[in-house]
Amino acid sequence: MKKIVVNLKQKRYPVYLGCSISKIGELLKEHTCGVRVVVITDKNVGQLYSERIRTILINCEKKVKVVEIKPGEQSKTIKTVYDIIKECSLFGLDRSDIIIALGGGVVCDIAGFVASIYLRGIRFISIPTSLLAQVDASVGGKTGINLPWGKNLVGTFYQPYFVIMDFSTFDTLPKKEISQGIAEVIKYAVIRSKTLFNLLMDIDPSQIEKYIDTIVYECIVIKKKVVEADEQEKKGIREILNFGHTIGHAIEINSKRLNHGESISLGMIAETFLSMKKGYCSEVLFNDVKSLVKKFSLPFKTDIDVKKVADTLVYDKKVKMGKIRFVLPLRVGAVKTGVEISPEEVISTWGDWQ
Ligand SMILES: NC(=O)c1ccc[n+]([C@@H]2O[C@H](COP(=O)([O-])OP(=O)(O)OC[C@H]3O[C@@H](n4cnc5c(N)ncnc54)[C@H](O)[C@@H]3O)[C@@H](O)[C@H]2O)c1
Ligand SMILES: [Zn+2]
Repeated sequence: MKKIVVNLKQKRYPVYLGCSISKIGELLKEHTCGVRVVVITDKNVGQLYSERIRTILINCEKKVKVVEIKPGEQSKTIKTVYDIIKECSLFGLDRSDIIIALGGGVVCDIAGFVASIYLRGIRFISIPTSLLAQVDASVGGKTGINLPWGKNLVGTFYQPYFVIMDFSTFDTLPKKEISQGIAEVIKYAVIRSKTLFNLLMDIDPSQIEKYIDTIVYECIVIKKKVVEADEQEKKGIREILNFGHTIGHAIEINSKRLNHGESISLGMIAETFLSMKKGYCSEVLFNDVKSLVKKFSLPFKTDIDVKKVADTLVYDKKVKMGKIRFVLPLRVGAVKTGVEISPEEVISTWGDWQ
């Protein structure tokens, strides 16, 4: 097991990597907290892991309520938040108690948001079970839900109490979801790490499980540094984590089929292409990003209507004074932030990168 501590101005918390879920009992005993625990999960993950957690918590003399939501992005709504809050309140959860997020990025985002607003904030522990949630969604404190016209438009910055990453949860994770997580890993590699980039270029995707602990560790080290430098995305540093996400989110919101990782894969290719067209990066980098996406069975072309994508871009959170701001790669490990590009430019280059 490895421990990485995230050090923020107001909060410091450990991330336990390669730590069994069963350790939750021991870790809770180390901290004083109330008697009630609400475990928020989704039906897929709940079915696999919630009984195990419930038993451990009951053995620690906790009163446990498991709240299951429907799996998938469609659950990131204010209605789901209200339903969970109602369950917490009826259960008598008070400010000394704990919420546990057990699941992928969707559960982590919603549970973190609920914890941040319920009774003006109660502690939450994150147990991310998907690769994407481990490398990205569970650390850094961004919580939130979607509006029908844009992703993550309602949310808070709210840090977890601690995070447990059990790599054995990947044994039950569908292959497609592993690829989704790899999309965020490619993002980390492009923005900050030559080592990770070279590792991804070299490995055989069918052997990925051999490298999972190194991959998650590398990503969390990068995320920790970025979040510590700019917790609330006010200094233009945290913004780098949005590489691929400006176009990616617009694709995701307009697509019924593509998930987050698939959408940002297309976003990363399109944005690297824009960077190349503007002379910021080489054609080699564009080709490498595209070939990494292909190699890990992620989509590299789409028939989505680019006009819809362009219309959605204006709702992006990074829009300032009506201008859409992009994070564009310069070379492996370095990006340029705040590059203004018009929706027309996105439309005119759309066919060329596919
Ligand atoms: N807050 C952040 O910083 C941040 C960062 C990146 C992504 N996100 C958010 O994360 C979400 C995507 O996360 P995701 O890809 O984990 O999606 P997800 O939570 O929908 O999980 C994907 C699927 O895998 C299933 N699953 C998860 N763990 C499993 C396991 N161990 N075994 C079997 N099935 C399992 C889920 O039930 C779901 O069907 C998006 O909403 C995105 O906006 C947030
Ligand atoms: Zn993402």
